[in-house]
Amino acid sequence: MKYFIANWKANKNLKEGLLWAKIFIKKFKQQPNINLSKKIIICPPYHLLYPLAKMFKNFKNIFLGTQNLSSFDNGSFTGEIAAVMIKDLVQYSIIGHSERRSYFSETDDQIEKKITQAKKYGIEPILCVRDEKDKIFPQVKIVAYEPTYAIGTGVNESPEKVLSIRKKLKLKPTTIFLYGGSVNENNARQYLIREKINGLLIGNASLEPLQFIRIINSC
Ligand code: PGA
Repeated sequence: MKYFIANWKANKNLKEGLLWAKIFIKKFKQQPNINLSKKIIICPPYHLLYPLAKMFKNFKNIFLGTQNLSSFDNGSFTGEIAAVMIKDLVQYSIIGHSERRSYFSETDDQIEKKITQAKKYGIEPILCVRDEKDKIFPQVKIVAYEPTYAIGTGVNESPEKVLSIRKKLKLKPTTIFLYGGSVNENNARQYLIREKINGLLIGNASLEPLQFIRIINSC
């Protein structure tokens, strides 16, 4: 099983998001080799979750995720999206992305609370770590290693280095381990052919639906 996670970050208005999904679905239906051994998780911004959930509801291997979650339960927390509010729309949530850690000063304490919230409402957290020094929380089943220098720079990390970090992270053998950082259709395959890299977290290159499909098709 290989995971393909699209992280759209703060991109796409309603019209653009719907167009992405329409183009993606049309192409996806013509792809006989995208079978159930590939798990696709699309993480759009919040305003696109409901329409996309409707559009993807009949696709067995396509799931939705958020890019963040509130560390609080629901209540008087202006501007927050609590796990309980979106648990019916998503199956996954990216937590602790390096952009959250750096631009929004997210701490391990907040990340742990977000993981707890996700778990409480049946959402599977995808924990992002920047290097072997970031904390791995024991309840997390999916870890995405994303070195900051590789995110959005066009400089992807070699699969050998990715695997050496995987070792240093001392993950449980059952942990799903992903790589992210400047993955595109030309470099995706080198990661996907490694047994111990269980998939990819893709930012920029996932914004274009046909490129995202070509990445999925590259193994
Ligand atoms: P990138 O982003 O693919 O644009 O480098 C990856 C990520 O930040 O998840």
